[in-house]
Order: sequence, then C-alpha cells, then structure tokens
Amino acid sequence: MSADALAAASPAVALRAMRMDDLDAVMRIQREAYGDAYQESADVLGRKLSLAPEGCWFAERGGEGLGYVFAHPWSAGAPCLHAQIENLPPRADHGFLHDLAVSPRARGLGVGRGLFGKVRSWSERAGHQALALVALADAVAYWRGLGFAAEPLALPDGYGAGAVFMRYGPAWQG
Ligand SMILES: CC(C)(COP(=O)(O)OP(=O)(O)OC[C@H]1O[C@@H](n2cnc3c(N)ncnc32)[C@H](O)[C@@H]1OP(=O)(O)O)[C@@H](O)C(=O)NCCC(=O)NCCS
Repeated sequence: MSADALAAASPAVALRAMRMDDLDAVMRIQREAYGDAYQESADVLGRKLSLAPEGCWFAERGGEGLGYVFAHPWSAGAPCLHAQIENLPPRADHGFLHDLAVSPRARGLGVGRGLFGKVRSWSERAGHQALALVALADAVAYWRGLGFAAEPLALPDGYGAGAVFMRYGPAWQG
C-alpha cells in the first residue's frame, strides 16, 4: 500500500472534550510522555477535570488516546504540583495550562498545537487576561514557539530544575 493510500485509510486525529472515563488513557499517555519521574495521580488530574471541564481536551485516533491537555481558571502564580485543587480562586481572571502531553507515537503531527488551540479558544472566550503555564526545562522552547514569554517567578517545589513560568497574551486582543 502506498504512503498516500495508507494515510487515506488511517482515521484522522480527533480533538474532543475530555471525559472522566478518559483518565486511564491519560495516565498511560502521561507515563509514555514523562516516564516514571513525573506522574500526577488520577485523583489530582480528575479534580481539575471536574472543576474545569471546558479547559480539558483529549486527542484520539480510531479510539486510541494520543494526547491530552488540562487547563483551568486561575488567579496568579503557579499552583503546587501533585496537590489537589479544592476550589478555583474567586477572582480567576487567568487561564492556567496545567499539563499538555502527547504520546511519543504521535509526535510532530500537530496534536500538541491542536490541543493548545482548544485551550487558547476557551481562555479567550472566558475573557481571561492571559494564559499562563510552567514549562518544564525541555519544553521551554516549544512554548516560546507557540508565543509564550518567560516571566521571573519563584515556583513551588516539584517542577524540577530549569522549569520556567511563562505567559501568553493577550495576543487574542491584537
Ligand atoms: C512538547 C509536546 C507536547 C509537543 O507535542 P507535539 O504534538 O509533538 O507537537 P506539535 O506537533 O504540535 O509541534 C511540533 C513542533 O514543535 C517542535 N517541538 C516539539 N517538541 C519540542 C521541544 N521540546 N522544544 C522545542 N520544539 C519542540 C517540533 O520540532 C515541531 O516543530 P516544526 O513544526 O517546526 O516541525 C510533546 O513533545 C510532549 O508531550 N513532550 C513531553 C511532555 C512535555 O514536555 N509537555 C510540556 C510540559 S510543560
């Protein structure tokens, strides 16, 4: 079968709102993307999904999970890793992109960019002032390429050496 025929026969990548029953696949993708060193529990991630379902998206192809993103309204600074968020802050005027990961089996296909696009649209619609994240050391250049800029900010423990607080926006205003 030619490459073109193979591509035509392959189902397309779909980006859709995340569901609670995606969490098993999310845990698998998290392990594939980060290895054992950086694993957040299904409880911590599931709480983010229940607080902000409109900020959480899932990528799949033919029923196979390929990537995910968790984002939620936030006020300022970076939340602690591995700690369950009890409630969203009362004046949540920012979006915080907590984690985006793509399985190594699906890298370079635009899945990460597509998931980010979903979060960006949500944050814009929500009227946030900006979208923030903590880039792990290896991902700083990726986020810079998507338009984020580094800001000096002391981070809670757990993000690892070389992690950087970054902010995007308000690019949607101009
Ligand atoms: C970073 C990550 C999400 C990118 O996902 P992806 O779906 O492969 O990315 P896309 O297909 O949207 O974009 C690919 C482009 O980004 C570039 N890119 C990918 N990872 C990069 C990195 N770590 N640093 C710089 N550029 C990177 C590619 O070279 C490619 O560039 P091109 O479009 O000029 O060819 C994925 O590699 C991943 O899951 N990494 C491990 C988890 C992680 O670090 N997440 C971010 C935590 S803050």
